[in-house]
Amino acid sequence: MRIGILSLRRTLYSTRRLREAALARGHEARVIDYLRCTMHVSPKESAVIYRGEPLVLDAVIPRIGATHTFYGSAIVRQFEMLGVPTANHAGSIVLGRDKLRSLQVLAREGVDLPVTGFAHSVKDTRGLIARVGGAPLVIKLVEGTQGVGVVLASSHSAAESVISAFRQLEADILVQEFVAEAEGSDTRAFVVDDRVVAAMKRRAPAGEFRSNLHRGGSAERVELSSEEEALARLAARTIGLGVAGVDMIRSSRGPLILEVNASPGLEGIEGSTGVDVAGAIVEYVERLSSEAAK
Ligand SMILES: Nc1ncnc2c1ncn2[C@@H]1O[C@H](COP(=O)(O)OP(=O)(O)O)[C@@H](O)[C@H]1O
Ligand SMILES: [Mg+2]
Repeated sequence: MRIGILSLRRTLYSTRRLREAALARGHEARVIDYLRCTMHVSPKESAVIYRGEPLVLDAVIPRIGATHTFYGSAIVRQFEMLGVPTANHAGSIVLGRDKLRSLQVLAREGVDLPVTGFAHSVKDTRGLIARVGGAPLVIKLVEGTQGVGVVLASSHSAAESVISAFRQLEADILVQEFVAEAEGSDTRAFVVDDRVVAAMKRRAPAGEFRSNLHRGGSAERVELSSEEEALARLAARTIGLGVAGVDMIRSSRGPLILEVNASPGLEGIEGSTGVDVAGAIVEYVERLSSEAAK
């Protein structure tokens, strides 16, 4: 097979591992900088042009960065138009990037979440805080990633100040019940083709409640309960992702979904579990491609 890995840099761990896994299975693998691709859109002969030539591929694995969702997903959509199977569809990549919309869709499907409110320039901060159960609570910038813009407000007055500060910034915010029982840990389930292929528990460093590895958290392999496994698969299916990093938090009322990531990193999960996650992704696109050929 000719597999295209859509990524800005071939030296990134995840990109490198996907390429290795494809080569190890006897495929041709090409890292394609999607920002350098152009699209030829016409009813008769659409194409993706790269370095002056139309790309001919049997499958693509998108690794679209958060800052280039619009153009990256358009390239993925163009491949879909051409009938090239993709590990994740453009629509699901866009949905996964939109925290508000994905939580709405998950809630509609009955997926358990921390109690969450969304706001832009709220005047009634008291009502917003009361509705999610009062302090302590977590306030997040809707646009944030890697734990930046996630704040724990331990008292009502702290919550009010943080919310009004964000209001000054004209930012969209999310106000969420603080799941204290999680004790600074969360669980990342890596879902490929409706199966959990690996799972890790991330723990925040002392004095921190955010377990992001970018915030100095540590990771170790974890065995999921059957409830967690079912929840992770349901969340990935609901967003429509063939490859997803599903973040969950353990609460006293059972596992809750925090977020679903469409381009989850491979370094932390492979490093902590020893699972060949890249290989599982390549095997998934092998299946998609053989089904497309039928
Ligand atoms: N409601 C919450 N209760 C307790 N801890 C939380 C809550 N929301 C987030 N966290 C912690 O903060 C981390 C970052 O939050 P998250 O929503 O995943 O934002 P980001 O997209 O920036 O990673 C999570 O991994 C988790 O450890
Ligand atoms: Mg996160």
